[in-house]
Amino acid sequence: MADIHPLIKNRRSKRDFSGVPPKPDELNALLEAFRWAPSGSNKQPWRVIVTQSEESNNAFDECLNEGNRQWAAEAPTKMIILGNPEEQPERNGLQRWLIDVGMALQNLLLQGSALELTVHAMAGWDEEKVLEKFKIPDPYRVVALFAVGYPGNFEDLPPEVQEKDKKPSTRKSLSEFVFCDDFENVWNP
Ligand SMILES: Cc1cc2nc3c(=O)[nH]c(=O)nc-3n(C[C@H](O)[C@H](O)[C@H](O)COP(=O)(O)O)c2cc1C
Repeated sequence: MADIHPLIKNRRSKRDFSGVPPKPDELNALLEAFRWAPSGSNKQPWRVIVTQSEESNNAFDECLNEGNRQWAAEAPTKMIILGNPEEQPERNGLQRWLIDVGMALQNLLLQGSALELTVHAMAGWDEEKVLEKFKIPDPYRVVALFAVGYPGNFEDLPPEVQEKDKKPSTRKSLSEFVFCDDFENVWNP
């Protein structure tokens, strides 16, 4: 049986950071990977803010929920991923701009894994705070916040965060979500 690509199989959302920022060429590679994502009609309805100063790093941390702040505050570099709903019109009632931005997020995660960086997406934050603190105008929406850096020491994480990272990464089996010919036949080749 053909294996899935090791980059996909081995990527993990870790939570430990060494505090050393990614090198400029690594950061550039992450952003380039993001840039080369596919999008409907090649609209690329995304923007990215990368924190560089201590001030913006602190502002970022203030936007996180408590659970994420516990570990993500230690990341030396942070990213805010934005989408513009007006740059990719809705079709069949689907918010296609979100699909496009999601594609780019996965590129970012995979490129981070290829560079052996810790790159971790977060949905736990306050959008109003992000919009205000980072001077983001209408109609942009915040899609995800990212913590980026080199792996650190797992043992330095708070015990409750260690517990999260110890959990094995699992997925549904194919027979739970793939069907054969129609929705009534489970995939079972
Ligand atoms: C869009 C998105 C939002 C996420 N939000 C959070 C979050 O707020 N906090 C967190 O600790 N992990 C977050 N994660 C990480 C997921 O929990 C993780 O991807 C999932 O458990 C699968 O684990 P794996 O990435 O190691 O395979 C998020 C992942 C994605 C893609």
